[in-house]
Order: sequence, then C-alpha cells, then structure tokens
Amino acid sequence: MGFLKIILGTGAIAALFLAISTGIAWHKFSKPYIPGKYPDQIWGKEKTDNLAIVPFKVNVSNEVLSDLQNRLLKTPQLTPPLEDANFRYGFSSDYLQKVVQFWLKEYKWREREAFLNKFPQFKTQVAGLNIHFIHVKPSKVPEGVRVLPLLLLHGWPGSVREFYDLIPLLTTPRDHEKFVFEVVAPSLPGYGFSDGASKKGLGAAQMAVVLKSLMERIGFKKFYVQGGDWGSIIGSDMSILFPNSVLGYHSNMCFVNSPLATVKQIISSIWPSLFIDEDKISNFRSFGERLMYLLEETGYMHLQSTKPDTIGVALRDSPAGLASYILEKFSTWTDREWRSLADGGLTKKYKLINLLDNIMIYWVTGSITTSLRLYSETFNKAQFSLGIDRAQCTVPTACALFPNEIDYQHEFILKDKYVNLIQVTEMPRGGHFAAFEEPELLADDIWEAVYKMRLPPKGK
Ligand SMILES: *[C@@H]1O[C@H](CO)[C@@H](O)[C@H](O)[C@H]1NC(C)=O
Repeated sequence: MGFLKIILGTGAIAALFLAISTGIAWHKFSKPYIPGKYPDQIWGKEKTDNLAIVPFKVNVSNEVLSDLQNRLLKTPQLTPPLEDANFRYGFSSDYLQKVVQFWLKEYKWREREAFLNKFPQFKTQVAGLNIHFIHVKPSKVPEGVRVLPLLLLHGWPGSVREFYDLIPLLTTPRDHEKFVFEVVAPSLPGYGFSDGASKKGLGAAQMAVVLKSLMERIGFKKFYVQGGDWGSIIGSDMSILFPNSVLGYHSNMCFVNSPLATVKQIISSIWPSLFIDEDKISNFRSFGERLMYLLEETGYMHLQSTKPDTIGVALRDSPAGLASYILEKFSTWTDREWRSLADGGLTKKYKLINLLDNIMIYWVTGSITTSLRLYSETFNKAQFSLGIDRAQCTVPTACALFPNEIDYQHEFILKDKYVNLIQVTEMPRGGHFAAFEEPELLADDIWEAVYKMRLPPKGK
C-alpha cells in the first residue's frame, strides 16, 4: 500500500503539472467553438420519417418471457465471492443468487407491465428511429396556471422507469404556484423501447438534435429540460445548440469537462480553502481520494467507450450477467460505502422489484448493446472536435448537487460554462440516481428553479 501511495503521489504531481500546462495552453490557444447549425441526420434505415404519433403500450410476448425464465433457471453455480469481499470485487454472486431467485419466484412481469403502462406512452419516428416517450399532461389545471412543457432525460444504466415517482410530483398543480408541468420522458435512442441507430456517429450532441426534433414533433417549440447522467450531458448540449428552444436547463449532474475546469478541479482539491467557504470543504474530496475512486470505478467507461459490442454479447446472453452489471452501478453510485455491504446496500433505499423493472426494460428490448454504444459515440475525437464541451451555456441553468454523486464540481467551476447559473442546491442526501432515489427533493428543486427562471431578468 505504501508503494501504491508513492506511485499515486508521484502520479498526482505529474498529473497536476501536465493538467495545468495542457489546460493553460488549450484554454489560451483554442477558442471555444460555438457550433452552428446541425444537419438533421438520419440514423435509421429508412430515409423518410412517418410523422404519426402512435399510442404505445408495453406488451412483451410470452416467448420472450419463457425464454427469460429458462435462462434464469439455467444460471450456473457462480464463483463464490472471497470472504468479506462483499461488493469490493464487483457484484457479489451470493447476493446475485438471491436476486435471481426473487426474479424467478416473486417478480410478476405482467403486473409490472400494467404498472409501466400507467402513464400514456407513444412512439413516433424521428431521424429514421422509432422513439418511445411517456407524455403526461396535468389534470385539473386551475385557472391562471400556465402549463409548461418539461423534457425529462434519463441516462445509463437507467431508463424512463426512474421517473415514475417523480412525474406525478411535477404534473400535479401546487398551491400558490402559477405554473405546472406537462412532462415528456423519452427512452433515449438505443435505450429500452426506442430504436438504436444503424449508422455510426449518434453521440450525445446528435441525440440532442434528435430529441429537440421529437419535442417539435409533439408540438413544443420552447420547453424546459431536466436530466441526470447522459440526460444531463444531452440536456446541456441541447441548451448550447438550441438556446432559443430551451427555456431552462435543470441538471442533477452538472459537469464541466473543459481543460480549465480540470485544472481548477485539481488545484481546488489540493487547496480547497483557496476557493471554497470553510463550511463547505467537508464536501470536497482530496485529489488522491478522487483519483483513486476514478481508477476503481471507471473501468466500465473505458470498456464501453471502446468495445461496447463485445461486452454487449455477454450481457445480452445472460439475464443474471445483465443484472449484476447494471445493479452494481445502482449500489456504488447511490452510495460508495455500500461496496462493503453483503447486499451492496441495494435494499436500503430501493425495492428489488423496482430495480428489476429497470433491468427488464433492457432485457425485453435487447437494448443493452445499443445503450452502451452511447459511450463510444460520444467519447471520441469527432465529438470532442465539435467543441461543445468548451462552449458556454447561456440558457438559465440550475444544478442540484447530490452529496453521493460520482463526482462533484463546485459552483466556481460550473459558472465558467453555465454563465446564467440561477440556482445551485447542495442537497442533504442522495446520489447519482436522484429521480429514482429522492423524487421529492428533486421535484422541489425543479419547481424552485423554474420559478426563478420565469422571473424577469434582473436589471430590465
Ligand atoms: C398484449 O398482446 C396480446 C397478444 O397480441 C393481447 O391479447 C393483449 O390484450 C395485449 N395486452 C395489452 C395490455 O395490450
């Protein structure tokens, strides 16, 4: 361990100097490129879209369900975890056996299907892809209350399932509020019930174009956007590409990925007191801690950014494998301390039944491989060269900072990109899956942010 510390220490100093010099050079010599018009590309096989919006219900065939049953029954004897390892080497196979038993014996898909169908859902063809979305209008809107369209964007390894508790909190009018939300929550292209691309290049920026077209198709020229994980990145790209369409951007994973932000992040994690109020320093992890955590927890990202199709085969073939791959993230990203618990803490905050809904959305649609490709289509040279990472977002922005989020950036870093930052909330609890974990906290923050976004700009 001592040796590792020396390596990490030396590595840290080298990384610091490298980051600072690259950052300064990059910031100085490369102007952020504000992307101009984006061509509306076609990502599917057909050249022209059918513009119809067709009602949709989840209805999986009996063949798919009996095949799943057979595969679960055939789950082999799994390699036992090392003593006291819990989730430190990845998903504990002891606990996975329990998940499989629950899945086989207690999880009733037809009931869950009825639950998933409780919100109105539709499909329409955009950019050659059939895009699935939930669309909930508020009922009983009091007189004088404005209905505001809000696009909710999920990420990986999530789905629209994350929003089921959040949606009613947004579409139910609140006393004394002059607005209420009409929610559109699409499955991202390649996720769940939405088609994946058949052509290369559908990264986060291109998805922003597709989903903006979806909103126009539904009839919304201007709308608010909320997102976490990929939804946050896509929402941010959308705000930068279409500042006249996005009325406000709310994110529970605000992140600035510019070289300057990296430099600031490194310097401030070494000397936090130079940048941050004393009382907030406890939220700030040291540079060594951050680096270690990133090394331990981002292997999946490298894999998915480079060879998504290879790992996709195994995950498509084995429901137990898919569950362990996805649920490991719901454990660690909700609370990193849960890696030391026998069940990965999964039942502390969630119910297994709800977690399995999300797994089933990946399984019954066979969409795991297309979902993984979003990493390779975004973390590449072509996407970086668009310059969106370095562009500024002028749309009114609100950031909800959940303490257990994978990584954490302070307001003084966020302000460089989000130049119209109207609200930053330090949340009392919660991690990466905010909508799923803490729907009330997230809903309250969205209401408050949009209230502020609707106020007339200061000085006018
Ligand atoms: C699902 O599809 C089957 C067969 O096509 C049909 O009989 C059933 O009514 C459908 N269920 C729902 C909830 O739409």
